[in-house]
Amino acid sequence: MFNELGFQGMHVFKDVPKFSFFHKPTLLEKLEKLSGELGVEVYVKRDDAIEFAMGGNKVKKLEFIVGEALANELERKGAKPYVIPLGRAIPTGVLGYVEASFEIAKQVEELGIKPKYIVHASGFGGTQAGLVLGSKLAKLEAKIIGIDIIGKPELPQKILELTREASEKYGFKANVESKDIIVYDYSFGGYGVLSEKITKIIVDVARTEGLLLDPVYTAKAFAGLLDLIGKGVIEQGSQVIFIHTGGYPIIFQHGEEMFKLMKGES
Ligand SMILES: Cc1ncc(COP(=O)(O)O)c(C=O)c1O
Repeated sequence: MFNELGFQGMHVFKDVPKFSFFHKPTLLEKLEKLSGELGVEVYVKRDDAIEFAMGGNKVKKLEFIVGEALANELERKGAKPYVIPLGRAIPTGVLGYVEASFEIAKQVEELGIKPKYIVHASGFGGTQAGLVLGSKLAKLEAKIIGIDIIGKPELPQKILELTREASEKYGFKANVESKDIIVYDYSFGGYGVLSEKITKIIVDVARTEGLLLDPVYTAKAFAGLLDLIGKGVIEQGSQVIFIHTGGYPIIFQHGEEMFKLMKGES
């Protein structure tokens, strides 16, 4: 059953094992104040609010990776270790956001909206590969825009490869082409490099919407979203979904540095 937690042999995808860690669906909610200010309707997919292990896109990927590990274990009944490449992009992890695309397609219909874009932080590319593949399978018409927070020119190629590997492994019939992979670099000096600009976005979004962003992934992705709106790439009057991919533990890790930047001390 969709909302039961625990091991499931079958799920949205036939015969794909999954271990469910959290309740679904995650919320899709409108940022009322910011939408008014920006002239674009911004909805946030609250994957940060997943109740397991401080949430985020990693948990979504993990459901399928752990499911596969358990299934293999049961099959072999041996004590063979299964190494989970956490954070790394592997085809099994891509399923997390293939499934999320179906969830979003349903929510969009319920809300009666037609988002033109889905924007999110892209690192190793697993999340974006899942969304690009999933949006085709779930017939979501939105363009997927990945915000590269590392500054890796090879990211689009990596995403394309991941969509192909996942399609091959799971028999998805979706024709993903390079034009479907849209990536903008908003790494602002590189992975984990903080700045006053990013800290200001975190403070502003927290003040206006009560939404917390992290300095390494989601605040840079949000900075990208704001800039793309400012440049008209994301047109006035359009509807956008921002996927909040989590990252809360990172706020604690960088807390002191953020505080200094807020006070203008570094
Ligand atoms: C909070 C957060 N957002 C986005 C990403 C990027 O996800 P992906 O590696 O699937 O591109 C990560 C990955 O580590 C993350 O921790």
